[in-house]
Amino acid sequence: MPDAVSVIATKRDGHTLSSDQISWMVDAYTRGEVADEQMSALTMAILLRGMDRGEIRQWTEAMIASGSRMDFSSISRPTVDKHSTGGIGDKITLPLAPIVAACGAAVPQLSGRGLGYTGGTLDKLESIPDWRADLTAEEMTRILDDPAVGAVICAAGADLAPADKKLYALRDVTGTVESIPMIAASIMSKKIAEGTGALVLDVKCGSGAFMKSLDQARELASTMVELGTDAGVRTIALVTDMNTPLGWTAGNALEVQESLDVLAGGGPSDIVELTLALAREMVAAAGLGDIDPAATLRDGTAMDRWRAMIAAQGGDPAAALPTARETHDVTAERDGVLTRVDAMAVGIAAWRLGAGRARQGQAVQAGAGVRLHAKEGDRVTKGQPLFTLHTDTPEKFDGALEALGGGWDIGDVAETARPLILDRIGS
Ligand code: URA
Repeated sequence: MPDAVSVIATKRDGHTLSSDQISWMVDAYTRGEVADEQMSALTMAILLRGMDRGEIRQWTEAMIASGSRMDFSSISRPTVDKHSTGGIGDKITLPLAPIVAACGAAVPQLSGRGLGYTGGTLDKLESIPDWRADLTAEEMTRILDDPAVGAVICAAGADLAPADKKLYALRDVTGTVESIPMIAASIMSKKIAEGTGALVLDVKCGSGAFMKSLDQARELASTMVELGTDAGVRTIALVTDMNTPLGWTAGNALEVQESLDVLAGGGPSDIVELTLALAREMVAAAGLGDIDPAATLRDGTAMDRWRAMIAAQGGDPAAALPTARETHDVTAERDGVLTRVDAMAVGIAAWRLGAGRARQGQAVQAGAGVRLHAKEGDRVTKGQPLFTLHTDTPEKFDGALEALGGGWDIGDVAETARPLILDRIGS
């Protein structure tokens, strides 16, 4: 029988953990037999020493085994999900789920609430009056199987990889989130336990993402693709840029409105490009052949699915979205070309305005956030608004302005635009 100190020492000294050591440690920690300080020593040793593919697979399996697996085998259409590793202004799930449902797949999208500066999909949707994130497994299956809906975006139940919930909270306060093996195992344990048939990953890379370099993002993507494939889930990953915010907004209701613009056939070009690229991958992974997801935006079927999806979860798709009580403009200091808008600076500003939370369980402001008036490459003139800050609590403006300070550059010549999609991993 392993014991916590010898497991920690094995990894501390740079050795490979055995399957028994991993399964025992994850199980004993979930049951409260291994103390937080012991698990934090192990996660720090893993962060510093790494894990090989076999260890990562075993760690993932142990987290899946800590709870129960969902079963969508009764659903008549192929299931396909998407996961993003998180970015600023990343509202892609909102238009994507109804688009892919309109193409004929069932989309079980288990999502999270935001912690820190990256927003949470559930926080965004909760700005829609009466919309409910918590569904039972039966409600999820019924909505997914309904040919007029076919997509759910909801919270994961407490029994889905509970080891990961406990471990993620610990990693968050012990400086051990940024470990590729543990991020891959954390994400993939939930996606495999969810029981989706296929999965498309959007691995973010840049200043506003966990992975700052392309090499790191590629390594995370290929680790997750391998874990999914080994578990029988058709998995592919796109590596995408997260140096600058996606779209024109970062916030909750602000991002829902932008998603509605996309579903209505408009919206920012970067959001449309990435949404459709991911939708094409999801349609292919679901085995749906030659369907063009863009057609669902043109013919209104994606918007119909959105309305049905919101109504199926108690929300009123026709209700007005909340707006913040106060706004403040940040203006350009000179004429020129906007050469940099930093994702992290905008994300922290939106968070400080009240769009995100500093502690689990804290309330967020539906109307808070940042609206951009210019994007990288745009010509700007002195005095024109670059950003509008939105909040219900004007005393938050100073903190947001401090976060945003230094978060953009105005130059004389436009730099070459970066591609949004940097790589594709998986076959
Ligand atoms: N998202 C997760 O679900 N887990 C991580 O470890 C990091 C991001």
